Amino acid sequence: MALHLSQRPRRNRKNEVIRSLVRENHVTVNDLIFPMFLNPGTNNQSEVGSMPGIYRLSLDLMLKEIESCMHLGIKAFDIFPNIPESQKDATATEGLRPDGLYPSALRAIKQRFPEAVIMTDVALDPYSSEGHDGLVRNGEIINDETVDLLAKMAVLQAEAGADIIGPSDMMDGRVGAIRTALDEAGFTHVSIMSYTAKYASAFYGPFRDALSSAPKHGDKKTYQMDPANGREALIEAALDEQEGADFLMVKPALSYLDVIAALHDYSALPIAAYNVSGEYAMVKAAAAKGWIDGDRVRDEILLSMKRAGASVILTYFAKEFAMSQK
Ligand code: PBG
Repeated sequence: MALHLSQRPRRNRKNEVIRSLVRENHVTVNDLIFPMFLNPGTNNQSEVGSMPGIYRLSLDLMLKEIESCMHLGIKAFDIFPNIPESQKDATATEGLRPDGLYPSALRAIKQRFPEAVIMTDVALDPYSSEGHDGLVRNGEIINDETVDLLAKMAVLQAEAGADIIGPSDMMDGRVGAIRTALDEAGFTHVSIMSYTAKYASAFYGPFRDALSSAPKHGDKKTYQMDPANGREALIEAALDEQEGADFLMVKPALSYLDVIAALHDYSALPIAAYNVSGEYAMVKAAAAKGWIDGDRVRDEILLSMKRAGASVILTYFAKEFAMSQK
């Protein structure tokens, strides 16, 4: 005997056409930024051991990779430099050298693909012998002097053609200082995607393998956020809005979907989610063991970030996702 139900939610799930009509969220290649690792030299590629399918690429190979991604519809890239240990020092000098590996490559990429959107990383850790995002003195991370360097680094990257500056350092006041420095140098059109709520997370392990950038001592807990805190992200968001950020990013993403949702409610700025290296590695490892269907888990994870409120997703899955859509 039929139940008398005023609502039967299953009616909206009864076939794929109806499911498509009522589907609330979609992931498309337009939502994605592909993070890439830049190697020195030429014809120099090395797979990141903890990130199967992800390679550090020298400029010549990266240009080819960007070209193939552009054909697949990926048009935004976030580039991180893999600086040889011998060029790292306590004050991250290499990060401020106009003809260093990173700015030189950015110029070449932008010249070759003017229509691509290039996002850059602002922080000291790729260039620091300490493996910290800021200057270290007596074991402490010095905020204000670091911010001076970050602002200079941002201007250098803008000169090299960056479209979006990504401060990933979590120093106080850096978004405002970078905005002012960019504007004074004539780069009013260059955007800032602030790492607004970046947590002191174990999910960054494979990224630190990729760049050999793990802290040599201590941890990042005096500048990156405590994973226990959600409301504190609203303080960071308010500051970043006042200081002139164009996007607010949450990182990592998967264990912080509540923070993505909170920032989406709180701010009218676009929200970005960084689907970090450890999140990628877990999926790849479990899929390799045959324990999960990696492609479906990937798509479900990306969708969860959209559903939580992200309009932009930085993900190492970008290229394979784009290939799966063809
Ligand atoms: C450092 C930086 C990190 C990531 C991006 N920029 C690691 C860290 O803070 O130690 C992590 C990205 C990832 O895990 O995918 N400025």
